[in-house]
Amino acid sequence: MRINTEDFRRQARKSLPRFVFDYIEGAADDGHCLRRNLSDLAAVELTPRILRDTTAVDTSIEVFGRKWALPFGIAPTGLNGLVRPRGDGLLATAAARNGILFALSTASNMRLEDVRAGAPDGMHWMQLYVMHRDMAGQIVERAARSGYEALVLTVDVPVSGNREPDLRNGFRMPFKPTAKLAWDVVTHPRWSMRMLPNGAPDFANLTTAGGDAGSANVQAALLARAMDRSVVWDTLAWLRGLWRGPLLLKGVLHPDDARLALDHGVDGLIVSNHGGRQNDASPSAISALPRVVAAIDGRIPVFMDGGIRRGGDIAKALALGASAAFLGRPALYGLATDGAEGAEAVIKLLAAELLRTMTLLGATSVSALPGALEGASGNFT
Ligand code: FNR
Repeated sequence: MRINTEDFRRQARKSLPRFVFDYIEGAADDGHCLRRNLSDLAAVELTPRILRDTTAVDTSIEVFGRKWALPFGIAPTGLNGLVRPRGDGLLATAAARNGILFALSTASNMRLEDVRAGAPDGMHWMQLYVMHRDMAGQIVERAARSGYEALVLTVDVPVSGNREPDLRNGFRMPFKPTAKLAWDVVTHPRWSMRMLPNGAPDFANLTTAGGDAGSANVQAALLARAMDRSVVWDTLAWLRGLWRGPLLLKGVLHPDDARLALDHGVDGLIVSNHGGRQNDASPSAISALPRVVAAIDGRIPVFMDGGIRRGGDIAKALALGASAAFLGRPALYGLATDGAEGAEAVIKLLAAELLRTMTLLGATSVSALPGALEGASGNFT
């Protein structure tokens, strides 16, 4: 029986080869930041209000003029084709079926057009890494043409974080089989059978979201996360020239950067430390959130991700001023367990937990959640 995201995590660990599970779980250095994301969320207190009519509780929100049935979405994660063939297509389907947003990573194993076409009624944002400006420009144009609704520039990867499990497992991209990896693969026959229907694994056939835009060395740069480190605040003007829709920055933690983002006309921020995968000394996302929210002062929406494992965690993020939260690893645990159905089960689980939490708090709408911080002794306000 799988009744919480931890159960899905355990199943994912069983289902996936070790090098894949470790890649998903992987945090930078010693994993302090990853653990802080979880423990700081656990420390937030929400105080229930009593004797309120909670016959009807509304979990919906509006973001950039669009209605989301639930105040959370699926964060962009790269190489989802390692978890399941066409992993991004399956996640996008699960999100669309539940009226929530799906964000596609630049490091996808699927072409961005195919992900959109597979879930035409869904809401999609495109995440952007800039390795080479030409390639980035092409991705942006293709995303606009395909109906992606917002562009998310990830700004916390000037260089890849130090992920030691990947080093130990010999996992790197482009994928090079070793005896250790081969053993890992053969001891997970169900995963291998799914991956190798035509003798060529989906993930080795890395077209990336950049598809035809990527020459071999550009693809290699993406896979090695070799970013264009000359991307700075002024570069946003270039992106603005290519993209008319909302432009968000993902990976904001410092309130001064939040103010700079406002100065540069950014439309939304995602407070994030990349799930603890980049700078191990970063503050937890939930502790950075109130400082960023205060700096933004309601002018643009502020989202957060990092450590969401329960519906109650989503309530905490919203209480502290997030417009919505995003799921990284939990969506992948669902995907690994049972494809689109597994990802959907995780979404429904978190939705049910959130509904219960809101009811317990006496909050009949998402906008009532900040009221639950009053009277709490946690030190996050
Ligand atoms: C990520 N993340 C990420 N972010 C991004 O902007 N582009 C990317 O390609 C990826 N790739 C990626 C792969 C994997 C396996 C993970 C786990 C994460 C970060 C992701 O969007 C999000 O910030 C974190 O995953 C949120 O933390 P939790 O929910 O995993 O704790």
